[in-house]
Amino acid sequence: MIIEDSYLDENNEIFKRLENKEEWITLSKYAYRFWTAEKDPSNVWEELIKYMWGDIIGNPDVAGFEYWGNVYDDKYERYWCPGWHQDKDEKLAETKGETICPKVSTVYYGSCDNLEGGFLEIALPEYNRAHNDDSNLTERIFPMKNRIVIFDPFRWHRVTPITNGIRYSFQVNIWEKPPSDAWTTYKDYDKYHVVEDRIEPNKPVKES
Ligand SMILES: [Fe+2]
Repeated sequence: MIIEDSYLDENNEIFKRLENKEEWITLSKYAYRFWTAEKDPSNVWEELIKYMWGDIIGNPDVAGFEYWGNVYDDKYERYWCPGWHQDKDEKLAETKGETICPKVSTVYYGSCDNLEGGFLEIALPEYNRAHNDDSNLTERIFPMKNRIVIFDPFRWHRVTPITNGIRYSFQVNIWEKPPSDAWTTYKDYDKYHVVEDRIEPNKPVKES
């Protein structure tokens, strides 16, 4: 695992564009997207991927980048934090019970303020399993603005429940072969407007 703080220089154009929270809100409305990097970046997220992973674009064992955003912010949306899971080809797991993971997972944190909860917890490899509530067997990473975390998506991980504050995160998975539904999801991504589904059931969104 790699953790790097102050990842983007504050004068970097991408950093400046990521100050625009509306971009994050828009990103978080889609389940995920898949970018092969065959075309130039079409948005700030693909620009960020190119910045992060430009060195491996074009490698024969890199089919593309699956990416999505999560936003926890009282003003916009609350989301249900993902419980213990591996990042995987979800459709394949659902239809055939097979687990194929991407090669690498990356998280980049935007604004994170007054946060209570929202840790990224990653089970130690030797205790890699679905239910790992023993904090002694878990690596725990606090989200900080402009921090990047690179880890093995085969390792079980989760986000701990958030009770206060804001947390903007951007995720990228690198795939050797595209996951089963990468293309469908990309083409039909308007169907994946899932904000309503992700509102925490017991905490209604505040009216503005
Ligand atoms: Fe994950």
